[in-house]
Amino acid sequence: MGMVYLNGDYVPLEEARISVLDRGFLFGDGVYEVIPVYGGKSFRLAEHLERLDNSLTAIHLENPLSHEQWGEVLTRVIGDVAGNQSLYVQVTRGVDSMRNHLFPSATVQPTVFAMAWEAKPRKPEIARDGISAITLDDVRWLRCDIKSVALLGNVLLRQAAEDAGTEESILIRNGQVTEGSSTNVFLVLNGEILTPPKTNLLLPGITRDLVLDLAREAGMPCAERALTRATLEDADEIWLTSSSREVVAVTRLDDDLVGDGKPGTTWQRMDELFQDYKARLSESHA
Ligand code: PDD
Repeated sequence: MGMVYLNGDYVPLEEARISVLDRGFLFGDGVYEVIPVYGGKSFRLAEHLERLDNSLTAIHLENPLSHEQWGEVLTRVIGDVAGNQSLYVQVTRGVDSMRNHLFPSATVQPTVFAMAWEAKPRKPEIARDGISAITLDDVRWLRCDIKSVALLGNVLLRQAAEDAGTEESILIRNGQVTEGSSTNVFLVLNGEILTPPKTNLLLPGITRDLVLDLAREAGMPCAERALTRATLEDADEIWLTSSSREVVAVTRLDDDLVGDGKPGTTWQRMDELFQDYKARLSESHA
């Protein structure tokens, strides 16, 4: 790993230090982004920075850096690594003089942190076989549209999937599919690609939006529609999307096979489009 960014300085990860009074540590009072980097190029950076702005606005925190400044910081954190990476960006409400739920005075500066790490290539068996998932009750709060670092609900739901021998949990609130513990959900039903619309109950995923754009450009039928739990059982294909997992097919859900238990043909087409998009980004001169 190269240098990380912390409050204006570039330091080795081992030397980056924050106070135990940081509100991110005490209250989970902060927001974050995870941004893929393909061949040194950030994936949909403008969209990620816009979502960061939305998260910050929602928690009444001003973005301490302009988009241009973010661009400069992230370029330095990416460094000259040629391979694929993940960028992590976090802004918390900073360090007050004592623990206090109330927002600190305006003189307290937010804590700003960014790091990058190597992104491992997808294992061939993931593309070949897909992954397994379980459905769980979505026990999280009602502002899942904010990319908050307070991820205890997501952490417990992801661990529950792991403990059940599966790779992800698909969350159900009031009979409706919301998202995965750290992914968005798509399904293919009667030839249509479907995903729940953006509401306060799910994160507006950047990968999700790209998948919808790619489907529309390729003339593949798609729609944003509320999905009941029962549609998961009827679906020919189920996919999960995220910055770290890209587009992955779920081939086993709870105790049943999805479709014929193999990644479906619509997923294969979408994965091709997605991999092409990445290759074009890596080769671009932007
Ligand atoms: N997670 N939903 C949740 C709850 C998420 O945490 C994520 C991403 C997504 C997908 O969003 P995107 O396509 O913008 O990555 C959906 C990141 C990768 C994480 O927490 O590591």
